[in-house]
Amino acid sequence: MDDKEGRPDKEDKPELTAGIGDGALDPGTFDIAAVRALYPALADGHAYLDGAAGTQVPAAVIEAIAGAYREGIGNLDGAFAASRRSDAIVAEARAAVADLVGGTAEGVVFGPSATALAYRISDALSRAWTAGDDVVVSRLDHDSNVRPWIQAAARAGVTVKWAEVDLVTGELPTAQYADLIGPRTRVVAVTAASNAIGTRPDVAAIAGLGHAVGALVYVDGVHATPHLPVDVAALGADFYTTSAYKWSGPHVAALAASPALLETVWPDKLAPSSNAVPWRFERGTLPFADLAGVTAAVEHLAALAPHAASGAGAAPASRRDRVLASMKAVEAYEAGLFARLLGGLAELERVTLYGKAARRAPTAFFSVAGVAPRAVAEHLAAQGVNVWDGDNYAYELCTALGLEPDGAVRAGLVHYNDASDVDRLLAGLADLAR
Ligand SMILES: Cc1ncc(COP(=O)(O)O)c(C=O)c1O
Repeated sequence: MDDKEGRPDKEDKPELTAGIGDGALDPGTFDIAAVRALYPALADGHAYLDGAAGTQVPAAVIEAIAGAYREGIGNLDGAFAASRRSDAIVAEARAAVADLVGGTAEGVVFGPSATALAYRISDALSRAWTAGDDVVVSRLDHDSNVRPWIQAAARAGVTVKWAEVDLVTGELPTAQYADLIGPRTRVVAVTAASNAIGTRPDVAAIAGLGHAVGALVYVDGVHATPHLPVDVAALGADFYTTSAYKWSGPHVAALAASPALLETVWPDKLAPSSNAVPWRFERGTLPFADLAGVTAAVEHLAALAPHAASGAGAAPASRRDRVLASMKAVEAYEAGLFARLLGGLAELERVTLYGKAARRAPTAFFSVAGVAPRAVAEHLAAQGVNVWDGDNYAYELCTALGLEPDGAVRAGLVHYNDASDVDRLLAGLADLAR
């Protein structure tokens, strides 16, 4: 039974507490129907291919946020139970993000966005820079991991060096970093995956070159985190940012770093606020209810491949192990769907796809000859297919590709997309692009 807006009514919606960690998923398979049933918003029948700009949220996350408010929360460190609940929510959310990326709970800093965190850290680090130092940024990155460093460099009077993208392949060649990074390099800022063309640079190799000269490596993990198992140590990331709204959580971002490194950095802060790490990096009052949603989102991810994380009779797997198993399953599932998308796009004569990097997140960035990106997006929206148009703040890349100011069209897959989403996109494009 549908209401006026065509949404299924309450009886048709998935249970708020429905989970797939109860045996619904077979080992090695990804039960997409079970996954989709967890997301109330998907019931509107749209093909949500805009996940790279922000995902939908499973009922368990909605319930965790609502539940925190329902139960009662207070500000931190008070004498009463509601305040204690907020203390616990924050601690749990730090532990959850640490499990998601392989970090340390005491090194997880929360902020309103990855952009805000990049400004916070670049501003703090740049106070130690002196003339003759340099920072290395890339033209592959979202502007949030470019502009804050350029602006901090300008204030400190230090040089900015650019890593260039091979515009034919979409790769960010590692070799160039050997020339770019020198003894005075203080920071290397690089993305773990492009939010436009999906390219996943060899961050570990780049970080190795940076560390060899004592530079810090700031990795933008916003686009990578929803698509693959992340291990900040293996990446060599001194700082790693991720935004929960890209992986089925609320609009909260986190920065993961080692507590020992954070101890060496002093951001601007209020006099009475905590000087301790990680608290001193968090400005003002945290969004406690949303942080309950962050933990629920990590639990959601950790439950995507419940049987893969431990064998029969084995000790219960840790949440970190479950996250790794789930994200491996997600990566494999999305790779299959992405192959279907790329194959379909290749058959459309008037479509130009940007980037064909060997390692890519499942994100397609393309133009349709003679049709403005917004017009393509409107055409698809009229058929219930949600895609993004524009530069997606991959501003340097789009400038280099000659795509500014209109950018291109982006179809980004996430783990709740299915083959019908892809097929609807391809069918919607066919009449425009054949
Ligand atoms: C790769 C990448 N980095 C950074 C950002 C900015 O994240 P936030 O909105 O949390 O500032 C985005 C958002 O789209 C992104 O895709």
